Amino acid sequence: MSERPRPLVAGNWKMNGLRPSVDVLRGIASGVSAELRDRADLLVCPPATLVHEFADAARGSAVKIGGQDCHAKGAGAYTGDISAEMLADAGAQFVIVGHSERRQYHHESDADVHAKALAARRAGLVAIVCVGETREEREAGKVLEVVSAQLRGSVPKDSTAAELVVAYEPVWAIGTGLTPTVGDVAEVHALIRAELGKILGPAEQNQVRILYGGSVKPANAVELLRVPDVDGALVGGASLAAADFLGIASAYTS
Ligand code: PGA
Repeated sequence: MSERPRPLVAGNWKMNGLRPSVDVLRGIASGVSAELRDRADLLVCPPATLVHEFADAARGSAVKIGGQDCHAKGAGAYTGDISAEMLADAGAQFVIVGHSERRQYHHESDADVHAKALAARRAGLVAIVCVGETREEREAGKVLEVVSAQLRGSVPKDSTAAELVVAYEPVWAIGTGLTPTVGDVAEVHALIRAELGKILGPAEQNQVRILYGGSVKPANAVELLRVPDVDGALVGGASLAAADFLGIASAYTS
């Protein structure tokens, strides 16, 4: 039996946060107990405008900083886009790629997400590759099929566990207050673990962190984070308040 990966509790701020929000980040950083620091990694992914300031404020703390998306290319004539190299230059260590809001509103395909994951690696960032089914796909009984196809299309074959995190986020659970049952989460995470074995091989399979995301809050964190093969959470709304985010992470110290 290989050792379980170190848990990761990641906050995705989405398009929220202005410069005074650095106080929230400071509240998170100063609220991390020695025990929590020992047991889990914490990550905050603010909007790109705040990455530099947050990275400065988080330096020396237990909190790492990430971006929410990147362009596949390192530089060039892509007005409005941000490269993985730019995020790294601003102090990011991670980047979320293929979030369902990017897939939906920016029509990102699995191939796009794959290219962004490669860009993250090129820039020395850890890619958090998001997958998850829509409500229609769940109702049609296609969850495992959809998630497997997204993984096969989005995860670069030669990724190592040090440069890849997978986040399972059922689209219908994001921002809705709805969550799958513990049994459903366990089933999908086991499938993701098995697929990672096929994509990456047995050496990396058990070391890649698989996060659950979608309406995680302090009240359901313990239950969700104890599910087998759940190695942490990707948290949207509840990551915007230090007490809630720390409340979720404290599932690892309870
Ligand atoms: P939520 O969002 O926690 O607000 O549901 C999760 C996400 O989109 O990453």
